[in-house]
Amino acid sequence: MSFQSWPTVCMLGNRDVNKDKRDKEDFTMKVMIVGSGGREHALCWAISKSPKCDELFCAPGNAGTDSIAINIDIQADDVSGLVAYAKDNAIDFVVIGPEVPLVEGLADELTAVDIKCFGPSAAAAQLEGSKGFMKDLCAKYDIPSAEYGRFDEPDAAKEFILRHHAPIVVKADGLAAGKGVIISRNENEAYAAIDHIMTERAFGAAGDEVIIEEFMEGEEASFFALVDGETALPLRSAQDHKAAHDGDEGPNTGGMGAYTPAPVIDDAMTTQIMDEIINPTIKAMAAEGAPYKGVLYAGLMITEEGPKLMEFNVRFGDPECQPLMVAMKSDVLEALLACAEGRLDKIKLEWHDDATLVVVLAAAGYPGPYKKGSEIKGVANANDIDGVFVFHAGTESQNGSLLANGGRVLGVTARAKTVAKAQKLAYKAIDAIDWPEGFCRSDIGWRAIDR
Ligand code: AMP
Ligand code: GLY
Repeated sequence: MSFQSWPTVCMLGNRDVNKDKRDKEDFTMKVMIVGSGGREHALCWAISKSPKCDELFCAPGNAGTDSIAINIDIQADDVSGLVAYAKDNAIDFVVIGPEVPLVEGLADELTAVDIKCFGPSAAAAQLEGSKGFMKDLCAKYDIPSAEYGRFDEPDAAKEFILRHHAPIVVKADGLAAGKGVIISRNENEAYAAIDHIMTERAFGAAGDEVIIEEFMEGEEASFFALVDGETALPLRSAQDHKAAHDGDEGPNTGGMGAYTPAPVIDDAMTTQIMDEIINPTIKAMAAEGAPYKGVLYAGLMITEEGPKLMEFNVRFGDPECQPLMVAMKSDVLEALLACAEGRLDKIKLEWHDDATLVVVLAAAGYPGPYKKGSEIKGVANANDIDGVFVFHAGTESQNGSLLANGGRVLGVTARAKTVAKAQKLAYKAIDAIDWPEGFCRSDIGWRAIDR
């Protein structure tokens, strides 16, 4: 595997090469990224290009981050271990990738020991950590979202189903790794969903409560904004592909591919989303005493009545972060720091005009059981193609070989003039990768291309 064609401004163990650059800077930093997915490799890659980045660490990271950062053997949910490492190693800035450490208070604990970080407090992370909290906030502050009921007892939940029409959506309140949402076509399916979540405890304590929601018709899209407590800076829109197989068939996954921007979110729609959803949420969170800082990821349904909020995530999406990082021209570290320091009103972001698209390569069987340890070849050849950036997720390197070590394994990301061209380029790069034990969808981007 080789990353030779990538910018390596922040290469470690190569200080002399970087000395001139560092001497010109007022201040350079030690940055730590928390997480081990394609999202975190993309963040490492983008941050490593910043002249402000002196040393880069990733906990726990993967074989991709290992090429541009020092991987630290601490899991992303080990809050006390991460805080101790950051303190002992004089880390200046921590960028938190996944939601679990955020909900568990990693940002609060870092702040308590005076370490700057990118990511919301545990109180603000409730926007993702509790769907009930998010729905109540929307109701209280008039943020457009589906009609709902919130229940901590199965009989009351079932009685609510009787009074509303199917299709209807049943959701576990807490974090369920993206699996806690059950779309029910009729009453019986909805009752079964309530039993699955509340009685069988399929998602553990995440099912202490259920949210039952009106089913919304429309086109799904995601919207990302940086928020510093007061100011929101729109990033870009994206569209994910959650189903495992072509034609949006098969079980739901963490995401099999994505592109940015989403054509359904034009400039007028962006303004509407900022005015009706993002900015009112920021005001509401401040008024509730839990000002929001970090990236706010709105999962939206674009309905005939306008955009409606389906969910908030308090982190970058994965794989959406991969095309977002490739699309951004500005210094990502500067932007994330401005977010942490409350200076977003002074920042203007620049983007490549192109479309950017990622196709996820996953281990055969994912999202069900899959094997680890198969060898992947040809990644360097794929990465050498102009406009292609291969990010690692579940990978490890052993004795010079690259091995699969997870469900989602690589994110093959391509930037080109249109979604169709980016799609073609990504699949050309995938052809250069030799991994018989892997699979990918062959239709990532179809919605944008069909328009
Ligand atoms: P969530 O984790 O809340 O985004 O839900 C996962 C998926 O379920 C979404 O990406 C949608 O496809 C679907 N979904 C969730 N809520 C609704 C809703 N109220 N109406 C229609 N589809 C929904
Ligand atoms: N790709 C969906 C997510 O990150 O939640």
